[in-house]
Amino acid sequence: MKNLLALSLKTVQGELYVLDQTLLPHQQHWVHCTTVMQMVTLIQRLQLRGAPAIGIGASLLLAYRATQGDSREQLLQAAEILRAARPTAVNLMNNLDAMIRALQQADFADAAVACAEALFAEDVALCQRMAEHGAALVQPKERLLTHCNTGGLATAGVGTALGVISLAQQQGKTIQLWVDETRPLLQGGRLTAWECQQLGIPFQLICDNMAGMLMARGEVDRLFVGADRIAANGDFANKVGTYSLAVLAHYHNIPFYVVAPHTTIDLSCPDGSAIPIEQRAADEVRGVRGAFGQTLWAPEQAPVFNPAFDVTPACLVSGWVLDTGVYSQADIQTGILQQFASKSQ
Ligand code: MRU
Repeated sequence: MKNLLALSLKTVQGELYVLDQTLLPHQQHWVHCTTVMQMVTLIQRLQLRGAPAIGIGASLLLAYRATQGDSREQLLQAAEILRAARPTAVNLMNNLDAMIRALQQADFADAAVACAEALFAEDVALCQRMAEHGAALVQPKERLLTHCNTGGLATAGVGTALGVISLAQQQGKTIQLWVDETRPLLQGGRLTAWECQQLGIPFQLICDNMAGMLMARGEVDRLFVGADRIAANGDFANKVGTYSLAVLAHYHNIPFYVVAPHTTIDLSCPDGSAIPIEQRAADEVRGVRGAFGQTLWAPEQAPVFNPAFDVTPACLVSGWVLDTGVYSQADIQTGILQQFASKSQ
């Protein structure tokens, strides 16, 4: 396997390493990942997270197992185990489908390695194209708002929504970014804030419940968020809290964009109601887990509802920034997503 390097994934002399995102921003620790169950655990604990990144990580692990002499049957079984690691981000399923097709070839081990490397390279290129399309929408001195983490940590490349924002800044547009901290697991407060510091993006961290007040005061000009799955009608699932932002943006007449590669489209979901939503552990809401352990603030047995994602209906979206361009409500209503959906579907 080639040496590959992303913010949260790398291969070095054929070995696979994952940057443990649960320890960021205070510790940078690379986990050496060698087994299928280790990769499943990394994904389920969100040590590796972000829709494109979990798909790429699972593919690289399969490729690594192929280089270790696993049989075709073992690799196909591993692909099914990896597919079940998290339910919402369809990039995981799409990438594994591509790997399964590669495993049908006679020289399946070489084909698996070539496929995982190609998926990695493709994601880098898709991120760059989305960044270019999305950054063209940003006007100088705009105050942008984003949710969760959609940067280099969540992809093999520059990211989705944060890639757009970062390129706009590099183009000299001197933007200001409001970063939602993103309860319960604080991907904004821990990861996006850290990436913004690395990238030199001027930002201020806010609690999620402050976004409405900022919009009412006229201090948000545009929103960019990512997606974990886009249904055929343009509805999309993203980190819980995205829907509330879309409603607020609509009420305040502020442009609201979703940024995602075509590998995030799932035509088998006619609309957002068909997207499976992951439910997570109660303790994530009862308190917080940091680098130094768990702090509980709610009663230990407090009943909890903890969906990891919510669905934003297409009617609240101003534009879909894909790697192929920016699409309006009218474009989506013509069924344009059918053309751009992953080749694996
Ligand atoms: O639970 P997470 O942290 O994996 O959720 C991530 C998101 O919701 C992102 O916005 C999404 O994956 C798009 S990132 C490229």
